[in-house]
Amino acid sequence: MPSYSTLSHLDCSRDGSRHDADAVQGTSPLGAPLLARYDLDRAARLVGPAQIATRAPDLWRYHELLPVRDERHVVTLGEGMTPLLDLPRHGARLGVPRLRMKDEGLVPTGAFKARGAAVGVSRAAELGVTGIAMPTNGNAGAAWACYAARAGMSALIAMPVDAPVITRRECVVAGAELYLVDGLIGDAGAIVADAVTRRPGVQDTSTLREPYRLEGKKTMGYEIVEQLGWRAPDVILYPTGGGVGIIAIHKALQEMAELGWMRGPLPRLVAVQAAGCAPIVDAFDAGLDAGVTPADPRTVAFGITVPKALGDFLVLDAVRATGGTALAVTDDELLAAQGALARDEGTWICPEGAACMAAVGRLRESGWLDGTEDVVVLNTGSGLIYPDTVPVDVPTLPRGARL
Ligand SMILES: Cc1ncc(COP(=O)(O)O)c(C=O)c1O
Repeated sequence: MPSYSTLSHLDCSRDGSRHDADAVQGTSPLGAPLLARYDLDRAARLVGPAQIATRAPDLWRYHELLPVRDERHVVTLGEGMTPLLDLPRHGARLGVPRLRMKDEGLVPTGAFKARGAAVGVSRAAELGVTGIAMPTNGNAGAAWACYAARAGMSALIAMPVDAPVITRRECVVAGAELYLVDGLIGDAGAIVADAVTRRPGVQDTSTLREPYRLEGKKTMGYEIVEQLGWRAPDVILYPTGGGVGIIAIHKALQEMAELGWMRGPLPRLVAVQAAGCAPIVDAFDAGLDAGVTPADPRTVAFGITVPKALGDFLVLDAVRATGGTALAVTDDELLAAQGALARDEGTWICPEGAACMAAVGRLRESGWLDGTEDVVVLNTGSGLIYPDTVPVDVPTLPRGARL
């Protein structure tokens, strides 16, 4: 099936050196993420927006721009093509009437991590990998455990003991070998990196330490532009932890511009973090090219508790190259935004997505947004994953009570 993918090679994100895409790869010799490259001229000859519109509503509709070479290796649970919701009432409240939300709470496993897992697991299986191993803040581990099960692969997952409890259960129900770590994601990563050295056939699929998770997440960018009629919004806000999603959306936008599928300037990309863990925001403010590791990282938005991201320089580049910005919001602000959005629009989003909603309000107040822009917020997961973010303090009535 030679035309299913136009993958050509991998580039080192530091020095641009070229690497083989048909071998199992980790990072480049410089220890930097490898980025998948495609023959975009060929892709543009093979397919265009009109043909994509006739395909099934899942992320594999962009298969020429994804790394899986043979359709038979696709491992899917039906991920992708999530709604791009108008938020008229909430947008009016914030003074941003053209506010929309890409709702990733509706993918399998309840978080956008399913996209990276679907593509990452499919490509790993295609290359002969028999098991995956990864540290996680919860959602990625849950997704990779489920997709590994679907592919018949083993999964070793290590997550901080404070990660959302439901994600543990997802790993267990899918048969993963799960460990809770008394520490942060970096501590879990060190344990995994050591374990894979003794496990032949098992690949370390830590954030940006293999090239294809990013490709799955890239489809969020393709979908936003397709859903807007092959037009980019003015601004996209993304809750940034390891940064894969924002780097991937930037990559998708660049590819679509080169393919001739999208007109106009790239949207301004906004990296949103929590005040309790804001290494990229601090670096952005200080004009640095690498994250500034916080002393005591903590936030209720657990998915973005990433004190040191391997791809921090790529996130900063995505933000700066598009004229975007980076900002941090407090847990109080993001929880207030989560409640306000649910009351306005009836959708319970995860605290990471809520951080972006709070950021929209802040950027409007500061004048960075003037209220005329098309703004898209990425809600990266369902509020159902984080039930404890909403306290329930209501009376219990006796039977037959009258109100
Ligand atoms: C719900 C949620 N949002 C956002 C993120 C951050 O992801 P990224 O690595 O793309 O920055 C995570 C990561 O765990 C997450 O679980």
